[in-house]
Amino acid sequence: MAEKNDRHKVAIIGAGGVGATTGYALMVQGIASEIVLIDINQEKAEGEAMDLMHGASFVPPVEVSAGDYSECEDADVVIITAGAKQAADETRLDLVKKNTEVFKQIVPSITEYTKDAILLVVTNPVDILTYVTLKLSGFPKNQVIGSGTVLDSSRFRSLISNHCEVAANNVHGYIIGEHGDSEVPVWSLTNIAGTPLDNYCPICDYNCEGELEGIGEEVKNSAYEIIEKKGATFYAVSLAVARIVRSILRDENSILTISSYMNGQYGIEDICLSLPTIVDSQGVEQVLNLPLNDNEEEAFVESAEKLKEIADTLEL
Ligand code: 2OP
Repeated sequence: MAEKNDRHKVAIIGAGGVGATTGYALMVQGIASEIVLIDINQEKAEGEAMDLMHGASFVPPVEVSAGDYSECEDADVVIITAGAKQAADETRLDLVKKNTEVFKQIVPSITEYTKDAILLVVTNPVDILTYVTLKLSGFPKNQVIGSGTVLDSSRFRSLISNHCEVAANNVHGYIIGEHGDSEVPVWSLTNIAGTPLDNYCPICDYNCEGELEGIGEEVKNSAYEIIEKKGATFYAVSLAVARIVRSILRDENSILTISSYMNGQYGIEDICLSLPTIVDSQGVEQVLNLPLNDNEEEAFVESAEKLKEIADTLEL
């Protein structure tokens, strides 16, 4: 058993593909000492919890169980993965009305039991639902975050890593804005081993001029392609969520492109979307206003405006 003061409890709402795989990612990496799965289909949550718990002898000490909303009471982080998922012919934004209604049930059920947990939204459209969760919960702005483009930034880094044949952890780069069709690759800040690509590419032996450019589009279309092939995405998104939870529970101050409330960054207010953000035990420590080039800034502002238009149509 973990010592009392090392104990970190995570409640996961929704025991579908993303919820259960997030439990698995947290457990395998020893990030949480207690994981509770909560689902409207209690049998499914129980089955997933049993399946996970039977691997306990292979991983750091952990308790995994199925429970109800009262389990949120002493949770450090509550992850929301429940809701309808994207079909092959749908965009993430098509889900907005359906999942806002679902969140009107879920969020009050959580806040009945906790005012202290960090709420981490994963359900799509994640930026809008992070905003919806913030409004419905009345929690402080730092305490409500979304997985945002943490996954997209990882897709970006891994595609560049494959292309350039260097380890993904030596590639630094961010996708900002909406987790979806208006997202923005920040090429101007992308670097390998601390070297901007404009300087790195001439010293690399591959002579692949211009070929990197398609990677932004490839990242944007990855989910559509995976959903077409296997019906859903869940491994990489769950690893992204586990990465965010690690930064919260270990008070890491890691910089991650989570979705959070904008307070005037690049002139944007009153909507949630992703920018590189310092993440600590309180959730958002600081949203970074990094120097974007003019095209990137314009695309980020457009992305935010598109989300704001949608958020304005919701009755919260
Ligand atoms: C993804 O990007 C569908 O948002 C999910 O994999």
